Amino acid sequence: MENPRSQRVLAFIGAASVVLAIGGAGAALLMIRGGFSTRDEPSWIEAFAAQTARRMAVTSEAKKLRAPPISPELLQEARMHWASHCATCHGVGGAGDTAMGQRLYPRAPDMRATSTQRQSDGELYSAIKNGIRLTGMPAWGEPGDDDLESWGLVAFIRTLPDLTESELAEIRAHLPRTPHELREELEEDEFLRGEPPSPSSPSPITNPPEHRHE
Ligand code: HEC
Repeated sequence: MENPRSQRVLAFIGAASVVLAIGGAGAALLMIRGGFSTRDEPSWIEAFAAQTARRMAVTSEAKKLRAPPISPELLQEARMHWASHCATCHGVGGAGDTAMGQRLYPRAPDMRATSTQRQSDGELYSAIKNGIRLTGMPAWGEPGDDDLESWGLVAFIRTLPDLTESELAEIRAHLPRTPHELREELEEDEFLRGEPPSPSSPSPITNPPEHRHE
């Protein structure tokens, strides 16, 4: 005959499995009912799972990596690099307040805040070099620990909380522009100088000469 103790254990495992299955199905139903829009804020369970996975992915050696000395020229280059490659999502001043940054899931964070600034240089470097899986953050540059350009970006990220007006203006001036925006700027300049719009400078992409209707 079966011993009553092992029967109790089996009953407990059975009951626990039923509770887990019902709980899991309930959580899945709630998520599905809400749809899967990236406009929603990530739920705490998703944020917790993502942050834990990310912490586990950064090796302790990577966390301890030390930034090499960064010259003022390299920091200036990093600002330009930020303007051309990062500001679309992270914003000119790092607040993440861009159309793209705010519609990503998870959002682009406010990198001026302590949640970013308290991370070690190695952690930020690792986020830039390896990207962050299952988020909009891509991996940049070539693999390796001696990429000065990425270290320059880490040093730049440290300056985000205290960027001056002239540094912000410099970044704004170097944001990527579409051919359409370039043409608009050109027309505005010509208008301000009192010149008639020049038909000789059409954008090769938005307005190829052979397709222009006069
Ligand atoms: C396509 C959008 C996009 C672009 C372009 C982008 N990022 Fe990100 N980045 C993100 C998102 C989204 C996150 C937040 C990921 C998360 O929640 O873990 C992020 C996170 C980061 C983090 C970690 C911040 C933190 O608080 O943990 C760093 C550092 C970073 N990005 C640097 C950069 C740099 C430097 C560039 C340009 C070379 C760049 N990113 C370009 C979307 C982007």
